[in-house]
Amino acid sequence: MAVITTRKEQTGFELFKERRKTQEIFERRKKLVPNALSIFTPATISEAKGAIITDADGVPLIDFTGGIGVLNAGHCPPSVVKAIQEQAAKFLHTCFGVAAYELYLNVAEKMVELFPHGEGTKVMLTNSGAESVENAIKIARQATKRSAIICYSGAFHGRTLMATTLTSKVGYRLGIGPFAPEVYRIDFPDYSHDNRGMSEDEFSDYHLKKLDDFFHYYVSEKDVAAIIIECVQGEGGFRVAPKKYIQGLRKVCDQYGILLIIDEVQTGFCRTGKWGAYQHYGITPDISTWAKSMASGMPLGAVVGKLSVMDGINPGTIGGTYLGNPVCCAASIATMEYMKEIDLNAKAQKVGDRVRFRFEEMKKKFPKHISDVRGLGAMMAFELSVDGDIQKPDGELAKQMVQRCYEKGLIIITAAAAGNVIRVLSPLVIEDNDLNRGLDIIEESLGELAK
Ligand SMILES: Cc1ncc(COP(=O)(O)O)c(C=O)c1O
Repeated sequence: MAVITTRKEQTGFELFKERRKTQEIFERRKKLVPNALSIFTPATISEAKGAIITDADGVPLIDFTGGIGVLNAGHCPPSVVKAIQEQAAKFLHTCFGVAAYELYLNVAEKMVELFPHGEGTKVMLTNSGAESVENAIKIARQATKRSAIICYSGAFHGRTLMATTLTSKVGYRLGIGPFAPEVYRIDFPDYSHDNRGMSEDEFSDYHLKKLDDFFHYYVSEKDVAAIIIECVQGEGGFRVAPKKYIQGLRKVCDQYGILLIIDEVQTGFCRTGKWGAYQHYGITPDISTWAKSMASGMPLGAVVGKLSVMDGINPGTIGGTYLGNPVCCAASIATMEYMKEIDLNAKAQKVGDRVRFRFEEMKKKFPKHISDVRGLGAMMAFELSVDGDIQKPDGELAKQMVQRCYEKGLIIITAAAAGNVIRVLSPLVIEDNDLNRGLDIIEESLGELAK
């Protein structure tokens, strides 16, 4: 193994002594960038293709992070790069309201085709996931003429003030209040941690009953504009909501005229083996929010909603200079076409099956460290715990895993409030041998650290 320095204070991780350029980048970063911007791995990049990053010193790294779920179609798919280059040579910006262009409409058409929301569907493009969430809430409040929003423990919806208000982890909220009013948080139906011997269906009924009680004790259903949920919580630790719960939520929303917002920012665009995670649940949301993999790394997001909701709002109350930027739209169209052409959902299922199998094997081998394996499609993770007890998170071991994997040529990131969940968000176009090598590195690293 290569020699490493002890200059941990720069990144929270050890940096390789002989990786001069990497050292230099982190030294400059320390001078120029606020410390509060997280460093998830000690890696750098000079270029990338598919699932392989070449770092600033020319060292190849297998990428199990996909830029936090943005690169489902891989780094730099050739048709996406070409579409970006061609559009950049034509025009970079007009603001869609100033001079309209077909590219926006082409993205919207594709979204409507992939994600029909009932009787008719409209699409607002944005620049990020947080902005999609922010607008979804503005739309829901206006369309229902109600103000309360219900969100979940463990939720992550972004970094703007409303999105942070909806986000659960206190580490992301420290010192930045006051938060937006009329936001209520309920427990996410987390079967892995909290099932207390119930079957998954009983557990769903229990949580739906708790929601009913909530309407009596905390906020009236008549005041609730929307409930926002991730079908699989991303930052929250890849916790998968039970099918019966999401279906029950749909019924509750229909019964009380509450809008169901599904946040697909991390789950969307083939990650779970379907275009959207909600499609596993046999329900249709009233509004859904998208970003990340929809444009292969170009900043583009979307709010998709049913016609009556999207047209139930006041003109001028939503918008933005850059939303639906033409270069981002070109990237998005090429990304969606490429995903379809190579059947990325099938690839996701295959990657997910492989990862699940290997993680289950690792759980058998390291029962004192891995307490749970979970996920949907290729959105897979395992949880590290002390003595194999799921109630005792081992965030320190997870951090060491990130470091050790990096030393062996793999980048991974963690999730969950305690940072004790190792998650896989690799590009779904990853070659079999890179996937297997990456999984071997995780197993080797855990084997070494578990000693
Ligand atoms: C479910 C979910 N919603 C919203 C966001 C925020 O997206 P962005 O970082 O593009 O603002 C994220 C980002 O991780 C996310 O996972």
